[in-house]
Amino acid sequence: MAKMEVKTSLLDNMIGVGDMVLLEPLNEETFINNLKKRFDHSEIYTYIGSVVISVNPYRSLPIYSPEKVEEYRNRNFYELSPHIFALSDEAYRSLRDQDKDQCILITGESGAGKTEASKLVMSYVAAVCGKGAEVNQVKEQLLQSNPVLEAFGNAKTVRNDNSSRFGKYMDIEFDFKGDPLGGVISNYLLEKSRVVKQPRGERNFHVFYQLLSGASEELLNKLKLERDFSRYNYLSLDSAKVNGVDDAANFRTVRNAMQIVGFMDHEAESVLAVVAAVLKLGNIEFKPESRVNGLDESKIKDKNELKEICELTGIDQSVLERAFSFRTVEAKQEKVSTTLNVAQAYYARDALAKNLYSRLFSWLVNRINESIKAQTKVRKKVMGVLDIYGFEIFEDNSFEQFIINYCNEKLQQIFIELTLKEEQEEYIREDIEWTHIDYFNNAIICDLIENNTNGILAMLDEECLRPGTVTDETFLEKLNQVLYQVEGFVDKNNDLLYRDLSQAMWKASHALIKSLFPEGNPAKINLKRPPTAGSQFKASVATLMKNLQTKNPNYIRCIKPNDKKAAHIFNEALVCHQIRYLGLLENVRVRRAGYAFRQAYEPCLERYKMLCKQTWPHWKGPARSGVEVLFNELEIPVEEYSFGRSKIFIRNPRTLFKLEDLRKQRLEDLATLIQKIYRGWKCRTHFLLMKKSQIVIAAWYRRYAQQKRYQQTKSSALVIQSYIRGWKARKILRELKHQKRCKEAVTTIAAYWHGTQVRREYRKFFRANAGKKIYEFTLQRIVQKYFLEMKNKMPSLSPIDKNWPSRPYLFLDSTHKELKRIFHLWRCKKYRDQFTDQQKLIYEEKLEASELFKDKKALYPSSVGQPFQGAYLEINKNPKYKKLKDAIEEKIIIAEVVNKINRANGKSTSRIFLLTNNNLLLADQKSGQIKSEVPLVDVTKVSMSSQNDGFFAVHLKEGSEAASKGDFLFSSDHLIEMATKLYRTTLSQTKQKLNIEISDEFLVQFRQDKVCVKFIQGNQKNGSVPTCKRKNNRLLEVAVP
Ligand SMILES: Nc1ncnc2c1ncn2[C@@H]1O[C@H](COP(=O)(O)OP(=O)(O)OP(=O)(O)O)[C@@H](O)[C@H]1O
Ligand SMILES: [Mg+2]
Repeated sequence: MAKMEVKTSLLDNMIGVGDMVLLEPLNEETFINNLKKRFDHSEIYTYIGSVVISVNPYRSLPIYSPEKVEEYRNRNFYELSPHIFALSDEAYRSLRDQDKDQCILITGESGAGKTEASKLVMSYVAAVCGKGAEVNQVKEQLLQSNPVLEAFGNAKTVRNDNSSRFGKYMDIEFDFKGDPLGGVISNYLLEKSRVVKQPRGERNFHVFYQLLSGASEELLNKLKLERDFSRYNYLSLDSAKVNGVDDAANFRTVRNAMQIVGFMDHEAESVLAVVAAVLKLGNIEFKPESRVNGLDESKIKDKNELKEICELTGIDQSVLERAFSFRTVEAKQEKVSTTLNVAQAYYARDALAKNLYSRLFSWLVNRINESIKAQTKVRKKVMGVLDIYGFEIFEDNSFEQFIINYCNEKLQQIFIELTLKEEQEEYIREDIEWTHIDYFNNAIICDLIENNTNGILAMLDEECLRPGTVTDETFLEKLNQVLYQVEGFVDKNNDLLYRDLSQAMWKASHALIKSLFPEGNPAKINLKRPPTAGSQFKASVATLMKNLQTKNPNYIRCIKPNDKKAAHIFNEALVCHQIRYLGLLENVRVRRAGYAFRQAYEPCLERYKMLCKQTWPHWKGPARSGVEVLFNELEIPVEEYSFGRSKIFIRNPRTLFKLEDLRKQRLEDLATLIQKIYRGWKCRTHFLLMKKSQIVIAAWYRRYAQQKRYQQTKSSALVIQSYIRGWKARKILRELKHQKRCKEAVTTIAAYWHGTQVRREYRKFFRANAGKKIYEFTLQRIVQKYFLEMKNKMPSLSPIDKNWPSRPYLFLDSTHKELKRIFHLWRCKKYRDQFTDQQKLIYEEKLEASELFKDKKALYPSSVGQPFQGAYLEINKNPKYKKLKDAIEEKIIIAEVVNKINRANGKSTSRIFLLTNNNLLLADQKSGQIKSEVPLVDVTKVSMSSQNDGFFAVHLKEGSEAASKGDFLFSSDHLIEMATKLYRTTLSQTKQKLNIEISDEFLVQFRQDKVCVKFIQGNQKNGSVPTCKRKNNRLLEVAVP
């Protein structure tokens, strides 16, 4: 950070020149052009040395933010671009750290931005000085005194919508730490004539309009006011409304500010009562009335308004009425009373209104001072802010302008004096030879005005005191040549209020009004004339000047860029005019007296060290000798600069600019150099990296290529090797084979040879039928071997085993098949022989069932695995069925519980189903009582479906006894068994085959009717149980899942 501070400078990024001292050449034209150029770039502040020129931008610029405050805080004055904050910071720090009292003098013409500038200074100081609850309250009170004073002391004029109509000097007091303690405000010469009359296009003081627009109905009633502006003669109507100003809101702001500053509610109200009284005074009108002595006497036209004023202020109506009609002049012991004519009455009325208002204003200032006064008696450091009206040169310059301009001349004078003094002191401090400077000194102008014997003010006073008729003309006669319009001078200087009126006021019961007119107290009657306005002003200016001279001055010179209150317009003629009367060129000249520019050695060396080889980049010795070396090296003429103790002084801005140009050039060169080196470095690093990479890649690639070549060579070698080996091996093989064949051939030849030999020898022993014998023997051997082998390979004895050894010789084919058949029959027999008679019976039965139902009824396959038990119900053992058992003599074949389907509704009832050798019986399941008995000869047919259900019908012979009730329809879990047994029993007993019909639709005889029983597939509703339902008289439907 510390380094940064040295490196930034006012000279960086300058638009035009930031300091007029550097202007080259220096003349009015360049001065204005520089201001204009900067103004066009929104640079409204420019320095003349330590003086700040401020050009009113007439628009809000983003340069007063808290960030800006931080930026300028604790920075050196020339370090950043020109700003009012830089001046404020410099002043505050020098007050705090060096214990120097400061004053900030703000000048400029109306609308140039003085009041704004003073507020900016105050707010900056408030922002940077100490914090804490107590300190903040002081700050707040100081800041809030502004809106109160502005409401009562500012008005809209043609030049400025918020023109200050009084001069203001405010001392802000600080303790040793720089924390604010309080303040003192002095006011100068309120323009009170505005109360009774305003120039065209202007307004009265803001407070009147604010009160009427912003007060509540209740308050207005209390003050006997009406909201309508047009009701009041003192208010100018043509410009009662100001654009962008909300009087009502401002009224609230002012009331609030009064509260913060410390006004009691009753105080604020009596202030407003005085304001109301002033307004109402304007409405009092007079009419002439002839008197006996022939003179006209004035009379009040309408006493109502007077009455209300008296009620408001607590004055006896008759006293006030008399004061408007008579004038008492006292000389020595004599009292002479004369009547007033109408003109005199109006004069008296206006004088009263003006006095009332201006005294109220002074009272307000005093009251505020009471509040903001520092509470401690410790020694204070002081910062004064002077917001005084600047030079005004109008077409008609009246007494006010005269007074104002006098004040400005005085300010200019102390400015010149102090600047020169400071300059001189600096030279002495820095041990630089002082040379005399020529400049215009305005001391003679001041003298012309204030000289005690023949100064203008003295002469004016003399004229006022002169007995006899005193007019402006008589005064003019005394003066030689004046630029001022002399009309009203005498009157304004006199500032007379008839004693009758002040006495009437003193009699008021309204405490505030009474206190405003102390001279009305008859006990303190003072026959001496009050001091004239001019001499009062002169005295207060003298005090002010004395005060300022003890302080370190800081100047802000405000300039108004145009007359239209408009942004972006820069009227050169208007600015030129202001520059002239503000003496700004003079400022520059004084400032440039001797040396235009100075800078401490360290920052100077830091800024320009790159211009010389010895000092760049580092200078080891003291900064001063570094600068010396630098300047020698640059061959700057010796008369152009001087070495002070801590600073280098440069006589001419040209030299500085030369240095700046060189620096700029050098910086560019340096930048190029840095760029060059950087680029070189970058390229080289890049190149090195590439090179390294290339080597790595090449190494890898070579390795890879080499590997590949090696592998190729290796595989080629292998191929060649293998070919050669193969060839060699084949060669050996060929040779070996040849050898082997040779050997075989030898053996064969030998065998043949032997065979021939043997045959030749044994031929004589062979018989003719030897071949047949050998054949038979061989065949026998083969068959023998076949059987022996078959014996070993016999399959198992299971009749269902399909295995059979394969046939060894084709000629044994038929034998082999026959053998297989015999073997199978044999093992079947063997198998059958194992069965007992009972088992045989069971199998017979099963066989029968298979013949009857296999592939016909879907229920059949599930029955194959179930053994047929017949007597499921053990009647013999269950005592419940004893009776039933006794009733039956024959052998029971089937005893089982079946469901008998009720023909009427398809529902079922359980019945015991008994089959004996000759009969079929149905008995009740619970009681065992026999329900029906059918001889088997009467059973003609059994019907059932082809599906997976247990329903079956038993048809009875027509006309038989049993058939009277009709056929039976049952369902049973053992249908297959029951049907089979029924079939077999019928066959054995009657020698007749029972007819078994398998069909999905059959007729059943129920008494007289034939009902069709129909089986349908589907209906999963009842799970896997078939259900029977009667559909109609002729149809019973069985749903099989
Ligand atoms: N720094 C600024 N930024 C923006 N606007 C500004 C600035 N200074 C002044 N103004 C504008 O110019 C107007 C007039 O300024 P100001 O009241 O300070 O003038 P003045 O010099 O005090 O005039 P007078 O002598 O009549 O009191 C302000 O109301 C405001 O609109
Ligand atoms: Mg102002």
